[in-house]
Amino acid sequence: MPKSKIHSPRVAIAIMAAGKGTRLKSKHPKVLHEVGGKPLLAHVIAAAVQVVPPKDIYAIIGHEADRVREAVAHTGINFVLQNPQRGTGHALMVAREALASYDCVLVLSGDAPLITPQTITKLRDFHNSKKAAMTLLTAVLANPFGYGRVVRKSAKSDDVRAIIEQKALTPAQNKIREINAGFYAFRAETLFRHIDRLSTDNPHGEFYLTDMAAILGKAKARVVAIAASDPYEVLGGNTRAELVDIDQRMRAAKCQQLMADGVTIFYPQTCVIDSDVQIGADTVIEPFVQILGKTRLGSDCRIRSYSVINNSQVGDGVLVRPGCVLEEARVKAGAMLGPFSHLRPGSEIGEGAHVGNFVETKKIKLGRGSKANHLTYLGDAEIGAGVNIGAGTITCNYDGVNKHTTVIEDGVFIGSDSTLVAPVRIKKGAYVGAASCITDDVPEDALAIGRARQMVKEGWAKTKREQMKTAKEKR
Ligand code: UD1
Ligand code: CA
Repeated sequence: MPKSKIHSPRVAIAIMAAGKGTRLKSKHPKVLHEVGGKPLLAHVIAAAVQVVPPKDIYAIIGHEADRVREAVAHTGINFVLQNPQRGTGHALMVAREALASYDCVLVLSGDAPLITPQTITKLRDFHNSKKAAMTLLTAVLANPFGYGRVVRKSAKSDDVRAIIEQKALTPAQNKIREINAGFYAFRAETLFRHIDRLSTDNPHGEFYLTDMAAILGKAKARVVAIAASDPYEVLGGNTRAELVDIDQRMRAAKCQQLMADGVTIFYPQTCVIDSDVQIGADTVIEPFVQILGKTRLGSDCRIRSYSVINNSQVGDGVLVRPGCVLEEARVKAGAMLGPFSHLRPGSEIGEGAHVGNFVETKKIKLGRGSKANHLTYLGDAEIGAGVNIGAGTITCNYDGVNKHTTVIEDGVFIGSDSTLVAPVRIKKGAYVGAASCITDDVPEDALAIGRARQMVKEGWAKTKREQMKTAKEKR
């Protein structure tokens, strides 16, 4: 037969993600707990899609299935429902229909997020090269407590006799430090021919997928193991302490990667940087900074201490002074923020613009080179280029029912302590006198003053003081 006609093995990935996560004592399903700023399951899927296309990936979900599905549906993978959850073996039993037509099924644990595509590929290739019915990924851990232990046929052999769960270990097996990582490759046909032999005769009363090792061995099918090159890749997040440990490892690795790519991070152990964050070279991150979600920072920025930037886009050469909070904001090149600026969702800060201390913005455009430097609230506003917003300016965008827009055109000067009652438009080059309450549109190049004219009463204070003094003496 010509080579092109040989059918290449069809490979599926099944991700076990139906469990409750009892040990977390949480109302949220385990696989939605986050490390590195995103759910455990999202990390596992991100690795899986590097190995097979989403149409060949099946997440087995059960506990809070709707929430889990919703959280990762955008990845385009398939879902299989496991209700009730009767163990990892049962998870594969319910997925039989979805998986039986594949040649090879790679099984991943939805709670072990540090797994890499390289290791999944290595597991698959080793499985194929050994012509095994089942291949398990293992790791040698200093503290193997809680994990299933791998009993090899002999110390040097690839072949595995059994996997023994923590609760069933004999004292001799308790000394084994090679653990079952919870990642497997199966020949689908052999797995599903024998899977019904699993029983619930164990301390948890569950169907253990791990028992397939001994079952397949007895059926004279080959079961082998391969060790992960980095034992930390297989850590599972079963408890809060384990989740925090994984989170720290993931973030430390993220900082190392960013530094390798040219970013300076002082005291990286004090910074919280999520795994999907991107940062350009020569940007400097000072201590105690959080950069979260899908934030992208340009090159040559400086992010000073105590700033928190979430799901925002920041251009090149931006200075973020201490204590700024950015939430779904866009900041163009060369802008300067802070200290203590609060950019709420929909804030777009133009090139070279300045937003200073105690300035809050929401759903605004601030044009190129415009400045709002002190004590100001700008919400639902379109502000042009070269505008100066005086200290204490407020856009009154809310009438108690609806939000309205304030438009401030290019080159406008807004005097300090002005209130701009929306909807209102201040046209090109106009001036607004300090402390004005502006309720009507201001024409181009005009001056608008909306406040009572100043009154001066000569000698009033002196007379008042004398009256008060006399009154006091009479008492
Ligand atoms: C499992 C292995 C253990 C291994 C460890 C590695 C078994 C019996 N034990 O133990 O040998 O050392 O992983 O991390 O498999 N799940 C379902 N449906 C269920 C039960 C679990 O989908 O009915 C999912 C969970 O959501 C989780 C994964 O399977 O993502 C593993 O289950 P978990 O209960 O965490 O197994 P471990 O006790 O960690
Ligand atoms: Ca686990």
